[in-house]
Amino acid sequence: MEAKISPSTTSSTNKRPSNMPCKNCQSKIEPYFRPAFLGLAPRWIPPSELCTKCEKQREKMEHVAREQQMLDDAFRYSRMSLRFRGRTFDNFFPEPHTKKAYQIALNFQFKNGGIIFLGTCGIGKTHLAAAIANRQIGKSPTLFISCPELLLELRNSISSRNRNQHHLFELARKVKLLVLDDIGAEKTSEWVQETLFVLINYRYEHILPTIFTSNCSLEELEKKLGKRIVSRIIEMCRCVKMEGFDWRIRQRKKAMEKDYE
Ligand SMILES: Nc1ncnc2c1ncn2[C@@H]1O[C@H](COP(=O)(O)OP(=O)(O)OP(=O)(O)O)[C@@H](O)[C@H]1O
Ligand SMILES: [Mg+2]
Ligand SMILES: [Zn+2]
Repeated sequence: MEAKISPSTTSSTNKRPSNMPCKNCQSKIEPYFRPAFLGLAPRWIPPSELCTKCEKQREKMEHVAREQQMLDDAFRYSRMSLRFRGRTFDNFFPEPHTKKAYQIALNFQFKNGGIIFLGTCGIGKTHLAAAIANRQIGKSPTLFISCPELLLELRNSISSRNRNQHHLFELARKVKLLVLDDIGAEKTSEWVQETLFVLINYRYEHILPTIFTSNCSLEELEKKLGKRIVSRIIEMCRCVKMEGFDWRIRQRKKAMEKDYE
């Protein structure tokens, strides 16, 4: 005949373990009595290290840490610089001459295609491009890189036969969102034109959204990079011309004025 075991019964093999204090909050945790289950004999399960409340808290903290880790990885993958990692729509102060550019950037959606921000130095082009990228990082694969830097790394990789840089070019071609900062700032050569054509044409053909910024006008870009690249950019992107003062210089002037107050 089968022996009957209940919470009140102690068998020689499975005694009721003692209560234990929770490792975190010291509250008393009782052992759990598992009844007979799918052919398994009933038995006492010793108390876990943490009480239910602390266990839930630990799981929540682990979840938050995992999410943070994933976000950190996404930022590393995006190559977003430290300075522009903090640039968002919240800390861009639109003024009459940048209000329209700000609105267009804020309303950016993948289905709208890309944007090219054109304009003078220090007007906020990279800030707006970074704000778009920062909103996207963690949600979908994003790469933020300046055009001269991309080309420099590619050139170095060819001379050193570094496979990682080949990976960078593949990433730039195929990533869901590419921000190519400062196009036109690189020294032009046939190799530069060819490389940028391969990159931009791929993104054009696969309808992959790309955000560009440039100090050059479209005419200047055409002279530097050729008609075929610029023609594709025009079709892919909404062109946003920005004019006005240099934010960097104005901020510096304001700081200096304060010093003399
Ligand atoms: N409207 C603004 N509100 C807040 N910060 C701004 C604004 N415009 C520019 N800035 C800040 O000023 C600095 C210069 O802006 P940004 O780098 O975007 O200029 P840019 O147009 O890309 O210039 P460049 O052509 O020299 O690359 C950045 O630190 C940016 O965050
Ligand atoms: Mg810039
Ligand atoms: Zn506890």
